[in-house]
Amino acid sequence: MMNVHQFAIRAHIQRAVAPWAAGQVRDLHRDVHLMVWNVVRDLLYGLDESAASESLHEDMEHWMFQTFAPRVRAFPVNLPFTPYRRMLKDAAKLEQRFLDIMRARRAAGASGTDALAALLRFTTRDGQEVPLEEIVGHALTLFLVAYETTGNTLNWTLFLLSQFPGVQQNLLDELAALGSNPSYEELDQLPYLTRVLKESMRLLPAVPYSRRLTSRDGTLGKYAIPKKTRVIFSHYMTHHMPELYPNPERFDPARWETIRPTPAEYLPFGAGPRTCLGSSLAQCIIKLAVAHILPRWKINVVPNSVVDRHMGISLGPRGGLPVVLAAQDRDLHASPITGNIRDMVDIDQPGPAERVRVAA
Ligand code: HEM
Repeated sequence: MMNVHQFAIRAHIQRAVAPWAAGQVRDLHRDVHLMVWNVVRDLLYGLDESAASESLHEDMEHWMFQTFAPRVRAFPVNLPFTPYRRMLKDAAKLEQRFLDIMRARRAAGASGTDALAALLRFTTRDGQEVPLEEIVGHALTLFLVAYETTGNTLNWTLFLLSQFPGVQQNLLDELAALGSNPSYEELDQLPYLTRVLKESMRLLPAVPYSRRLTSRDGTLGKYAIPKKTRVIFSHYMTHHMPELYPNPERFDPARWETIRPTPAEYLPFGAGPRTCLGSSLAQCIIKLAVAHILPRWKINVVPNSVVDRHMGISLGPRGGLPVVLAAQDRDLHASPITGNIRDMVDIDQPGPAERVRVAA
């Protein structure tokens, strides 16, 4: 599958960075999010821009941020004038937009090998079409989890590379050996690029925790867990255990030369029967994007930015990630930054940074 699609993915990456210019300040988070959104729209959903424009992306983002906003969660009761009521109204509007898209696609025959076509071809046991209202939630959720997680992972990977110049130099050396447009097959063989991505997903996993509802009585270590218990487990905390990963807050791709964690010790894509279905696609997009961007662009976080975490569907930066662009010249320096990202990543700082909030 990656063979067929890597050209389309590369075209989306090239289009996303086409407006970039040296000296510009941009919101990297937004740029890479839109890039991945376009890949998902095109490859996973078989939709072109006329069917799903950028304003659908805005609606999806708006709804997602409302869903996770503390003011909505604090009082989840459907009463007039509450933030919760507003969120439900926006959810209904978004659902309607998506239903229209699905209806048009089904009317056009729902042919194709993409995930939306597969969903639309579902039939009931007696051979009837499944009503769109029953699958619209699945279709929307899959779209959201696919671009949110991948966009955030790409964002964090580029962020870490910009804050760790030594790692970036090593990666640039490795990429230089491949020429200007390496294929995915070539990239997938690169040991350092693979370690960089593994380490980025260890340190800042886009999915920091997951939940389960137990279907029967059981035990977990010394704990008895009755049926219907909500269990939360943290990918993030597991990835930051010093007994598994010495100096866990350090971004150190070289550690992967020697460690071989078990699936329960390293689980950016989950583990067991509910393992992520999109891990290959996600890694393909991220590796192609890093390999395209890094040799061409030097990305620096705007000095003295506050980089705070924000949990939506997945872990991203609060309010975006402001960066300054320059042509790649390999004269690399980390930017002084503040924010609670520094509780999660051990970043060497040139000196104490002034706390400035940057609107992105
Ligand atoms: C770097 C990007 C991604 C990360 C970090 C990620 C992470 C995860 C994790 C941790 C789970 C398991 C959640 C749990 O155990 O409760 C999961 C499940 C899932 N992911 Fe991803 N994901 C990524 C990209 C994608 C993409 C691109 C797609 C779509 C093609 C996708 C589709 C899914 C689906 C359908 C499931 C549910 C599987 C099931 O329950 O059977 N993911 N993902």
